[in-house]
Amino acid sequence: MSARAPPKLAILISGRGSNMSAILRAAFAGEIPVQPAIVVADRSGAAGLASAAELGVPTAAWPGDARAEPFEPMLLRTLEAVQPDVIALAGFMRILSPPLVGRYLGRILNIHPSLLPAYRGLHTHRRVLAAGDIEHGASVHFVTPELDAGPVVLQSKVAVLPDDTEATLAARVLATEHVIYPRVLGWLAQGRLSFRSGAPWLDGRRLEAPVVEDFRASVV
Ligand code: GRF
Repeated sequence: MSARAPPKLAILISGRGSNMSAILRAAFAGEIPVQPAIVVADRSGAAGLASAAELGVPTAAWPGDARAEPFEPMLLRTLEAVQPDVIALAGFMRILSPPLVGRYLGRILNIHPSLLPAYRGLHTHRRVLAAGDIEHGASVHFVTPELDAGPVVLQSKVAVLPDDTEATLAARVLATEHVIYPRVLGWLAQGRLSFRSGAPWLDGRRLEAPVVEDFRASVV
């Protein structure tokens, strides 16, 4: 990644976009050296689109009309026009095709609300509570064609409390997502993080295991 121009960032969302907002805030505050180039949603009703527009970030959305063209060709065209260096999936609920992932391999990140490889897929907080786990968290990982299976870079760890509901647990995890996702994007933008031979490298070393940030004492 060039040290001269900040890498161009595209963010893909489907919903409220709180991770997107945390990333944009960090970028505009100068905390991470990325240039937010576009926010793309796979549905025009995604609440995060308005937040991005308020911050002056260009947006694009699929009209959600059954007669409209399929999403991925539109996405590819949009991305090719912008030429992003980095793509952040932030609550993006669509599975990208292997060719699209391959095209941007090593430059697409996702955040998933569990301590991967545990609890891939949906309803992670509910499943953690049902299993009686005492720890939970979120993972920022490189995207590979297999869903939620790309190598993890950074995880946040939180406690599961005895009186937790799905909502309280989700909120505790989400607060940490807003910290760890901008952090990983910053590492990538600074050239500290890369993806080589299918693995993440941080500060010149192959990451054999994710970096873990422990929020158990700091997040209620
Ligand atoms: C987050 O919990 C994220 O981990 C998951 O979807 C949720 C998106 O929330 N992939 P938001 O749209 O960023 O608020």
